[in-house]
Amino acid sequence: MYRTHTCGELRIQNKLNKVILSGWVQRMRELGAMTFIDLRDRYGITQLVVDDKSTDEVRKITAELGREFVIQAEGEVKERSSKNPKIPTGDIEIAVEKITVLNKSEIPPFTIEDNSDGGDDLRMKYRYLDLRRNPLKQALILRHKMAQEVRRYLDSQNFLEIETPYLIKSTPEGARDFVVPSRVNAGEFYALPQSPQTFKQILMVAGYDRYFQIVRCFRDEDLRADRQPEFTQIDCEMSFVEQKDVLQMFEGLAKHLFKNVLNVELQEITQMTYADAMKYYGSDKPDIRFDMKLHEITELAKGKGFSLFDNSEYIGAICAKGCSAYTRKQIDELTEWVKRPQIGATGLIYIRLGEDGIKSSIDKFFTTEQLQEIANETSAQQGDLILVLCGAKKKTQGQLGSLRLEMGNRLGLRDAKLFVPLWVVDFPLFEWDNDTQRFYAMHHPFTSPKPEHIDKFYSSNNEDIENVNANAYDFVVNGVELGGGSIRIFDRNLQQRMFEILGFTPEAAESQFGFLMNAFKYGAPPHGGIAFGFDRFCAMFGGSDSIRDYIAFPKNNNGRDVMIDSPSPIDNSQLEELSIKLDLKKR
Ligand code: AMO
Repeated sequence: MYRTHTCGELRIQNKLNKVILSGWVQRMRELGAMTFIDLRDRYGITQLVVDDKSTDEVRKITAELGREFVIQAEGEVKERSSKNPKIPTGDIEIAVEKITVLNKSEIPPFTIEDNSDGGDDLRMKYRYLDLRRNPLKQALILRHKMAQEVRRYLDSQNFLEIETPYLIKSTPEGARDFVVPSRVNAGEFYALPQSPQTFKQILMVAGYDRYFQIVRCFRDEDLRADRQPEFTQIDCEMSFVEQKDVLQMFEGLAKHLFKNVLNVELQEITQMTYADAMKYYGSDKPDIRFDMKLHEITELAKGKGFSLFDNSEYIGAICAKGCSAYTRKQIDELTEWVKRPQIGATGLIYIRLGEDGIKSSIDKFFTTEQLQEIANETSAQQGDLILVLCGAKKKTQGQLGSLRLEMGNRLGLRDAKLFVPLWVVDFPLFEWDNDTQRFYAMHHPFTSPKPEHIDKFYSSNNEDIENVNANAYDFVVNGVELGGGSIRIFDRNLQQRMFEILGFTPEAAESQFGFLMNAFKYGAPPHGGIAFGFDRFCAMFGGSDSIRDYIAFPKNNNGRDVMIDSPSPIDNSQLEELSIKLDLKKR
């Protein structure tokens, strides 16, 4: 028997019990003739003691131990003379009577403690060592708990968990696909799914009216803290539903998770239109834990002889409460911040409402009265600082939205313990792309237009088409898009029109999505659904901006798994089998 108990289990009630523990040596301390060993496993840490009452054999083996050795220790549970209230086993220790080395360890490349001294790359390379650390262990336990609660709730609502294939067909819409060459079908490729979207719709046609899956998705896109090339969705679909039914069902899921995993009673989930989100927050995923809304001041600020304003489509402002005393240095710092390529503003204008009156960086062009009018528009009062950006409308709104979040951070307004959810609704169905001169589906090509916009959907006028709204919704918490979905098109003709607007020839639509169009011939029910970013949900519950630590084996910023060193070249013989010829000079 390797162990009678785990390293997190023993308490004072176990005093005098004879026990066997197995685990890793976390650290050792010597105090005179005594050696203390912290023995660690998944469940916790228990202190072992070797002293002059121990046998020679035990003392000899102990002298040869090192960090991360795997050992088995047998002995008696004793009450500690100096207790450690910080750990659950802190009242006891084990007086070691027998010790066995199960496996040695080399000195680990970084310390395996809550705060490690290892850099990112090193810890990724030795992920199995990093995973021994408490913060990562807690993250994976949280993820497990989340998955169980997702299943519990959806099962209670009659959802069936059904798996869909990973080797599917490449489609040109959405992000880039990861592709897999087929050996048997030379020159042909599978694609890994960016999501099970079409399959879940087909399941609705097949009559499985409530489906879900906790499923891996693959997207060949640039990485960020909240994006991985392979990530996990809680993917769901329902038949015979309207938007409000879907929102209600998944509001239930969100509340269930917050309650059962975090013990947080989630407040009512409000709805905000996409148009309002952009207008007041400069973002389609507003963080509404704090106010500081965007105010358009184009009318008030234009035509006063300041050419930067006069040449701008949009001039917008936010009011930072209580910041009028910002120093020149602080304002310069903010100016540099908005000028970074990630934000891309040309400059920052300020109006401060200090004790000595209104002062601004545009005093030359504006009278005090005119500045006061702007202050009134933004509800600024004495003691406040107004920050102004200008330029093309959409872009500037986005920049102001980012500045708003930054000010929220600087002013401590984004309380990590507060969760404020909302549904963003009424998204436009399409986005026009100037580079390729065509429309793209803002969510995906299976999203239905609002019934009241059907006429515009069939219009031959691009402006009408741009103004069609979708039956689509995003679930946003604290400025993070945790999920998104839509009511789908289930009518073949409507779907055909969709592909036409997206620039597909009938032949291309047939070859890419013929299977779905065909399915729609055979009694497709009205349906809709949603997918949540499972990794993002976990990271939010764990209080982190980065999803990496909530994934056991994530990729680094270059999309590499540095532990297994992938991607990597493959043998020429393998390539030949796959009928792939590479330009070897480039390899
Ligand atoms: P969407 O593309 O909005 O919708 O994805 C749903 C949710 O998945 C998460 N997500 C990601 N998480 C980590 N890394 C990524 N690269 C990544 N990309 C997306 C986000 C997002 O809200 N089939 C539709 C859903 C539907 O219509 O039902 C879909 O995939 O949290």
